[in-house]
Amino acid sequence: MAIMNVVILAAGMGKRMQSNLPKVLHRLAGKPLLMHVIDTARSLQPSRLCVIFGHGGDAVPKLIASLPNAPAAPAIATVLQEPQLGTGHAVQQALPFLDDGVPTLILYGDVPLTRPATLARLLAAAGPDKLAILTMDVAQPHGLGRIVRENGAICRIVEQKDASAAEAAIHEINSGILVVPTVKLKQWLAAISNDNAQHEYYLTDIVALAVADGVPVVSAQPDSEAEILGVNSKVQLAELERIHQRAIAEALLEQGVTLLDPARLDVRGSLTCGRDVSIDVGCIFEGKVELADGVAVGAHCVISNATIGAGAQIRPFCHIDEARVGPASMIGPYARLRPGTELGEDVHIGNFVEVKNSRIDAHSKANHLTYVGDSTVGTRVNIGAGTITCNYDGVNKLRTVIEDDVFIGSDSQLIAPVTVGKGATLAAGTTLTRDAPAGKLTVSRPRQVTIEGWQRPLKKS
Ligand code: UD1
Ligand code: CA
Repeated sequence: MAIMNVVILAAGMGKRMQSNLPKVLHRLAGKPLLMHVIDTARSLQPSRLCVIFGHGGDAVPKLIASLPNAPAAPAIATVLQEPQLGTGHAVQQALPFLDDGVPTLILYGDVPLTRPATLARLLAAAGPDKLAILTMDVAQPHGLGRIVRENGAICRIVEQKDASAAEAAIHEINSGILVVPTVKLKQWLAAISNDNAQHEYYLTDIVALAVADGVPVVSAQPDSEAEILGVNSKVQLAELERIHQRAIAEALLEQGVTLLDPARLDVRGSLTCGRDVSIDVGCIFEGKVELADGVAVGAHCVISNATIGAGAQIRPFCHIDEARVGPASMIGPYARLRPGTELGEDVHIGNFVEVKNSRIDAHSKANHLTYVGDSTVGTRVNIGAGTITCNYDGVNKLRTVIEDDVFIGSDSQLIAPVTVGKGATLAAGTTLTRDAPAGKLTVSRPRQVTIEGWQRPLKKS
C-alpha cells in the first residue's frame, strides 16, 4: 500500500441544507458525513491527515478532538479556512501540514461513500509522480467540472460556469477527488489565480499546470456513481442514505440473512449476524449489534449496542439498548431492555416490561407490565404481572435480590434494598419492605373482611 497525505475539504457552507449545523456534520447511517470520509481516509493509513473546516464555529474540530485515537493513525490536523475562496485556496491551508516525500490525496467531507478500494486504484494510478483524477462518465454532467482530453490525454478541467458549449457537452466529469505529487502541488497552487467566472481559486486549475510541466495526468474510475455523489441538500442526503442502506441490506442478504423487505431496514453502525437470522420490516440497528444463529427479530424493533443469543426471538415493537439477551430467550412484544440488562438462557420478558441494570438468570419470566431495575434475579423465577422493584428513594438507587425459584404474585412492590430468599413466594399485592425468608409465603396485605348489613349511601332527590 502506498503512503500518502490526505486532505479533506470540509469548509463549504452547505447553504442548501437549510440548517445551522455545518453540512459535514449531518448524519448518514447515524454517522456524520465527515466521519465516513475520515474512516475511509484512515483505512488507507495516511502519514498525515488534515481537515479543512469553515462554518459552524468549533463544531468540526470538537468532533475530531472527541475521536478515540485510532491505533497507528496519525493525529488529525484541523485548519480553519476563513474566508472560503475556493477549493484551491482550501488546499493551500493544508500545505504546512503535508509530508513532501509522499503524494497528497484530496477528498471532500461531503462525499461519504467512496470505497477504499477505489482510492487505492487512484493512488496506484498516480504512483509517486503523476497527477491522478477520479473521473466518471455520467448521464447528467450539468454543474460539474468537465474533463477536457486531447487525443485521449487529459489536458485540463473546465468548470460548468466557464465552459464553452462544446466543453459543456462532455460527459466525463471531475469527481473532485485527486492525487497530486506534494512538492508539485505546492508550486502549482502558488501559481493559480481567481480569474474565472466565480472569482475563486480553483484546485482544478492545477491540471493544466501539470500538463505544462510535463507531469503525466491520468485517471481512475469508481465502481458506481454513488461513490462520488456529494451531499448539498436534504434531498441528496436522503437519496444517499437509501443507496447506502440498500447496499448494507444486500450484503446481509448475500450472507444468508432473511430480510422480509430489504428496503425497510436501517443499519446505523455494524450489524453482525449468524446463520438463519431473520429480520422483519421496520427495524433499526444502531452501534454494534450482534445477532447469533437463528435469531428472529420481529417488526419495528430498535436495537442498539446489544448482543442477542442463539435462537432468541425478539417480537415486534421492542426497544433494546446496551443489553445482552441470552440464547432461546423470548422478548416482547413491546418490551424495553435498558442499559445494563443481562438475560440468561430462555428468559421470557413480555409486553410492557422494562428491565434496567439487572441480571436475570436462566428460565426466569416476567411476562406482563413489570419494572425490574437494579436487581439480581436468579433462575426459574416467576415475576407476576404488575410487579415493581422500587429502586429509587429520590436520592439513591438501591438493589433488589430475588433468589432462585422465587414466585412473586401479581401487583407486588419490592422496596429496595430487599432480598427475597430462595424458593420464597410473595402473595399477590404484597408491598415488601423487609427481606422475605426462603421457602415461605410472605403476605403484606390486610386480611379481607366483609361488612354484614352495610348499605350504600343513597342520593338525596
Ligand atoms: C468542485 C470542482 C468540480 C467538481 C465538483 C464535484 C473545483 C473548482 N471544482 O466544484 O470540478 O466537478 O467539485 O463535486 O474544485 N470547499 C472548501 N473551501 C472552499 C470551497 C469548497 O472547503 O473555499 C469544499 C466544499 O466544502 C466541498 C468541496 O470543497 O466539500 C467542493 O466544493 P464545491 O463548492 O461543492 O465545489 P464545486 O463548485 O461543486
Ligand atoms: Ca459540490
